Amino acid sequence: MADTVAPTAFDHGSPGDARRDFLKLVVGATAAAGVGAIAWPLVDSMNPSQDVLALSATEVDLTPIAEGSGITVLWRGKPIFVRYRTAAEIKAAQDVQMSQLIEPQPDSQRVKSGHDKWIVLIGICTHLGCVPLGNKPTDPRGDWGGWFCPCHGSQYDTSGRVRHGPAPLNLYIPPYAFESDTKVKIG
Ligand code: FES
Repeated sequence: MADTVAPTAFDHGSPGDARRDFLKLVVGATAAAGVGAIAWPLVDSMNPSQDVLALSATEVDLTPIAEGSGITVLWRGKPIFVRYRTAAEIKAAQDVQMSQLIEPQPDSQRVKSGHDKWIVLIGICTHLGCVPLGNKPTDPRGDWGGWFCPCHGSQYDTSGRVRHGPAPLNLYIPPYAFESDTKVKIG
């Protein structure tokens, strides 16, 4: 009487069949890994990340910011400019005639009393939403020394007020408060 041998996982007939089955297995596993690699970022992107959740308020340490320069921080996904204005920049912002402004607003209404060396702005051009240049002293800052939007040439002064269009409005100011002379909380 002949012995019977139980078939193994790869024992499906001829050696050719076994090779084909093995290839199917490899291709299937690769495809599954590919789907997984695509799906993970999609699924992950649907969840608010911890850093986004944490950014409902953003605290900014002002000590590293040099006079005459600014930094950009993220608050609720928006770029926020925090700039340490020089005495000359503050004076230029205060001395401007309201009649020269596209959207008239005194500098005193755009800074916090007692902290007028700091200007805090939402860094989004009011034309089409580009992020203007000007935080670094080496950036182009336009003719009014504030910020320059390269896409269509809007220019803002050292108070973030639009001085040359096409942007129709001043840069917006986010809600913020000074927690101390060296710390600002945005949001
Ligand atoms: S978005 Fe700034 S000038 Fe167009």
